[in-house]
Amino acid sequence: MALKQHTDHKVRFDQQVDNSLSYVMPFIEQTKPITKGMNVLEVGTGEGGVLKPFADKGAFCVGVDLNEDRIVLANEFLEEYVTAGKIEFLFENIYDAPFVKRFTGFFDVIMLKDVIEHVPEQEKFIAHLITFLKPGGQIFFGFPPWYMPFGGHQQVCRTKWASKIPYYHILPTFIYKPLLKMAGEHPFVIRELLEIKDTQITIERFERIVKKCGLKILKKEHYLINPIYKYKFGLKPRVQFAPITWIPFFRNFLTTCVYYTVG
Ligand SMILES: C[S@@+](CC[C@H](N)C(=O)[O-])C[C@H]1O[C@@H](n2cnc3c(N)ncnc32)[C@H](O)[C@@H]1O
Repeated sequence: MALKQHTDHKVRFDQQVDNSLSYVMPFIEQTKPITKGMNVLEVGTGEGGVLKPFADKGAFCVGVDLNEDRIVLANEFLEEYVTAGKIEFLFENIYDAPFVKRFTGFFDVIMLKDVIEHVPEQEKFIAHLITFLKPGGQIFFGFPPWYMPFGGHQQVCRTKWASKIPYYHILPTFIYKPLLKMAGEHPFVIRELLEIKDTQITIERFERIVKKCGLKILKKEHYLINPIYKYKFGLKPRVQFAPITWIPFFRNFLTTCVYYTVG
């Protein structure tokens, strides 16, 4: 059973804004205070709500996404900001030459919230992101580790059991795919879920990639209860118990979201 924010774009936009203001921006500001005149990029911006609090602080913001419909919505929801030249939304690929030419060495902060788990060849992608940073710039990542109860994003399924059962995304594809088909999921949804299975990212792999790209972890927070669950399920966000964060691999199963700033 899909949640309201999967079908109601304005609900999703409002949740993005509030979550950004209450959790993402305070986290980033622990290592990089946001000030007037900074340049901020969000890759995978969706409806653009994450950027709004940054524009309100006087940063010039760019939101880029591969989904044209969501960029259209972002332009609608933040029309005033776009008209005033405070935010630009682009339906572009960050590998495209015009994007690279315009934005190399341009950004103080780059954000990827709930995006890196959708991206193939993450090592190449993160290395490419670095080229858009100014010296001293930082990148924020927030993502659900693959082995967490709903790390397969199966909550987007339309059928009740398929969206409510935890951990079955970990099953081998030859079992997982028929299960999704049996649940009557749309082929588009099945394709998307299998793509996430292909790109699966764990805490350990993420940290390895970041280090390999020559970046340092400046700040991290692991959550037992993802801040976004406040809006989705009315749950109180909760950071992970420290001893669990110390147990490699096992911690992935009980950690619904991680935040990192690297630079
Ligand atoms: C789960 S949504 C997150 C939206 C928003 N950041 C938020 O936190 O609500 C993931 C978004 O990333 C976009 N995306 C996935 N891969 C991308 C890529 N390589 N470049 C740009 N956008 C991408 C998708 O189109 C989608 O809009």
